[in-house]
Amino acid sequence: MGIRIANFEIKNPIIAASGTFGYADEYEDFCDLSKIGAIVTKGITLEPRMGNDGDRIFETNCGMINRIGLENIGIERFVKEKIPLLKKKNITYILNTAGSTIEDYTKMAQIADKNGIEAIELNVSCPNVKSGCLEFGVDANSLYELVLDVRKNYNGCLIVKLTPNVTNIENLAQAVERAGADAISAINTLKGLGIKIDYINGKFYKKEVQGGLSGKCIKPVALSMVKRIRAVTKLPIIGMGGISCLSDLFEFVCAGADAFEIGTQNFTQCDVCNNLADELEKFIKTNGFKSWEDLKNEIKEIK
Ligand SMILES: Cc1cc2nc3c(=O)[nH]c(=O)nc-3n(C[C@H](O)[C@H](O)[C@H](O)COP(=O)(O)O)c2cc1C
Repeated sequence: MGIRIANFEIKNPIIAASGTFGYADEYEDFCDLSKIGAIVTKGITLEPRMGNDGDRIFETNCGMINRIGLENIGIERFVKEKIPLLKKKNITYILNTAGSTIEDYTKMAQIADKNGIEAIELNVSCPNVKSGCLEFGVDANSLYELVLDVRKNYNGCLIVKLTPNVTNIENLAQAVERAGADAISAINTLKGLGIKIDYINGKFYKKEVQGGLSGKCIKPVALSMVKRIRAVTKLPIIGMGGISCLSDLFEFVCAGADAFEIGTQNFTQCDVCNNLADELEKFIKTNGFKSWEDLKNEIKEIK
């Protein structure tokens, strides 16, 4: 079941998505971390961040909206406190980084390189403060410059995570490939607004959360984005968005994905990544496929 992206090898294509699996050790009591291909850390920034005040999550039909605001301990503490833990427990991880300037991302890439971090996923859904706060991920030129600069400073496996909140995802995928990334992951959350109105004892009460929509409800959008990215690039694609079961994995393969991240489903089924790894292995064995690669190729041939 092993896969390889550039020099990064993982034991299976099941990866826990950023922001939904903490720094991994939080899940230790609930699932067998050794079975998961890799975990992506929550978004890490150069400096620690407290995240947003107020309501941070909102449950929707078949999904959720979050506005966590990148609460994290910062790269320095991550290196000092979390890497030794992850190493001790033999957990394969991908560092998810976020920043507001190219220099932020580059500095973190340099630190990652120095500390032997094998893979980085760039969260580019962050406002670029130097370009008037337009998100890096919505402008092909800024994205190209960002990825190029990180690439120059980082020798490990470089994955760029694309946002679906764009008109032309193809241009962005091509910019990422031209700049020298090793893989694309997609999709990040969709912009959404949750409003809940209660009427109690003759008075209205309102809860309103504007943030990123994720979970089962976004799967059709994610599949469409992965298919569009696949049409314009040869880079490996890590597909995500609403994955919860084996048939979802197969659908993402049909759209063009090579590996998978599982996010929101972890909140209601904390051993979903374990289960998917088990189920995939069982499917391969009981149906006579030679390997994950063999199964993947067969699914891609379905007419
Ligand atoms: C609570 C929460 C926090 C998230 N934080 C991050 C983050 O820090 N960095 C990032 O790249 N994506 C983050 N995401 C997006 C997920 O990694 C994933 O791209 C998205 O949720 C779609 O997958 P899903 O439908 O399986 O959840 C977050 C998602 C949720 C629900």
